[in-house]
Amino acid sequence: MAKTYSIAIDGPSGAGKSTIARKLAAELGYHYVDTGAIYRTVAYFLDLLGVSPKDVDGVERYIDELTIGIEYDEEGKQHMIMNGMDVSDDIRTQDIAQKASLVSAHAVVREMLLDMQRDIAKEYNVIMDGRDIGTVVLPKATVKIFLTAAPEVRARRRCDELLAKGQKANYETVLKEVIQRDYQDTHREIAPLKLARDSIKVDTSEMDIDQVVAAIREIVGKKIAV
Ligand code: DC
Repeated sequence: MAKTYSIAIDGPSGAGKSTIARKLAAELGYHYVDTGAIYRTVAYFLDLLGVSPKDVDGVERYIDELTIGIEYDEEGKQHMIMNGMDVSDDIRTQDIAQKASLVSAHAVVREMLLDMQRDIAKEYNVIMDGRDIGTVVLPKATVKIFLTAAPEVRARRRCDELLAKGQKANYETVLKEVIQRDYQDTHREIAPLKLARDSIKVDTSEMDIDQVVAAIREIVGKKIAV
C-alpha cells in the first residue's frame, strides 16, 4: 500500500475544525474525516434505545448491535450510516453533541472506533478532525494542528450555525454547553482532549475562516508539497 499523508486537527467544539478541514480537504484532494460524527452516531444509536450515555453497563450491552458505515457523496460530504440508515442530519443537535461527549468517555466505545479511524488513514490521505487524533489515533500524523478559540467566540459561532439551520439557539445556554463539553472532553480518563507535544496551536478567536484556512495552509505547506 502506498504511503499516505495525514493531517490531524484537534481542538474543542466550535473552534472551526470541520469548516476548515472540509475546505482544505477539497483543496488538497484529501479525504475529510469528521470523527466527532462517529461518536455522535454511537450516541444517537444508544439514545434511540433509551440507554443513558452514562450507563456503562447499558453501553457495553448494546454496542455490539451497532454497525457504523462512513460514506462520501460526490461533493465529498461525509455521511454516517447507522445499521444501514443515513443519520447524518439526525446527529447534528446540541442534545446528541452533549451525549456524544459522555459516551466517548467509555473505553469500549473508544476501542471500537480506534481501528475504524486508523484504517481510513491507512487507505487514504486524510484530514481528520477530533479530540485525540494527534495524541492517540494518528500519533505519527504528518501534520498536527490544535485549533482553539475563546469559549465565548465558539458559543457565538455555534449559535449562528444552529440558527442558520433553523434550529433554536440561546447564547447563554450554548455557552454553558460549550464550557461543560470542554470540561468533559478534557477531563476524561481515556484519550482526553489535550495539545500533542508536536502539535501547532492556532487560536482562531480573532480570525475569520479565510484567515484560518490561509494559516493552516501555510503550516501544512511546510510539511507536505501542496
Ligand atoms: O466534534 P464534535 O463536536 O462533533 O464531537 C462530539 C463529541 O464526540 C465530543 O464532545 C467528544 C467526542 N469526540 C471524541 O471524544 N473524540 C474525537 N476524536 C471526536 C469527538
